Amino acid sequence: MRTSIAARSANTLAMVDRIRDVGMTWAFEYDLYFAKKWREIALRGGLIAGNECMKFFKKPDLMESTRSYLRNFARQAAASVGPNALVLDAGAGDSPYRVFFSHATYEAADHCKRPERPYTHVSYVCDLTSIPVQSNRYDLVLCTQVLEHVPRPQETLMELSRVLKPGGKLWISAPFFYEEHEVPHDFFRYTQFAWRHMMGQAGLTIDRLEWVGGYFGALAYQLDMAWHFLPMRPRHYGGGFIGAAACALTFAARPIMFALAFVYSRLDRRHKYTDAGHGLDYCVVATKLDRAGSA
Ligand SMILES: C[S@@+](CC[C@H](N)C(=O)[O-])C[C@H]1O[C@@H](n2cnc3c(N)ncnc32)[C@H](O)[C@@H]1O
Repeated sequence: MRTSIAARSANTLAMVDRIRDVGMTWAFEYDLYFAKKWREIALRGGLIAGNECMKFFKKPDLMESTRSYLRNFARQAAASVGPNALVLDAGAGDSPYRVFFSHATYEAADHCKRPERPYTHVSYVCDLTSIPVQSNRYDLVLCTQVLEHVPRPQETLMELSRVLKPGGKLWISAPFFYEEHEVPHDFFRYTQFAWRHMMGQAGLTIDRLEWVGGYFGALAYQLDMAWHFLPMRPRHYGGGFIGAAACALTFAARPIMFALAFVYSRLDRRHKYTDAGHGLDYCVVATKLDRAGSA
């Protein structure tokens, strides 16, 4: 049977249609495949980059220059003693400064109340108001960022003074302007006048009393807090037009606060500005007086 020209061309057109359909389906599937792949790659890349960014911005030292100043303080304490020195790190926690004292004999005391910490390195598990060692034992006592956590700070200082040799040095620091932390075990903040008073009561004379970082560090800390915690709802600003405007202003200012926090924390490391403002922490070096009252 002979097929007409019209029927043949209809068949050809149907075949072309089928080929185009199959081709388009393949192309579509390939497209989909690659789109999926690219999305996967982009997602993975984004996740990795995001994670790295988070790690970078979560670095404890990034916005807080205090830590580098405290490390320096502990390093100086270590450099001030010779190889035969006996040193106590009072409220040592994880003993972050032990490495600086490798040339001396280092002991650590802590009440080890946080079950998540290993505390295997702690020589004396005790309260700092009652350290189980004889009097006049240590050449140097280091006590960083602990005194705000003790409910009886004056008694603690007396005890640290007791375990020091006459002429021995106490290197101590504590926050002055810092959020509540390790709650509920956060009791006090100390002004320079409190330090002077308490040291005198404990039979210690102050050689050095200073801010741990400069004002730029304190400002960086506040800016960092602000960009984290400033609220983003109009009702948090009292609502209404002013609430909405305040909210918009905060929204616009947040990235600036973040950038400034970063910049000022860097500037604080570069130069410790102490002419005005206030510091985050105080650090004190004091000497134990002998019975006659001389250092
Ligand atoms: C903020 S951490 C500081 C740790 C370390 N000195 C530092 O600078 O990283 C405070 C430490 O003091 C310890 N601590 C607080 N109160 C104490 C007390 N009454 N007796 C003994 N240790 C105490 C805590 O267990 C914690 O390890």
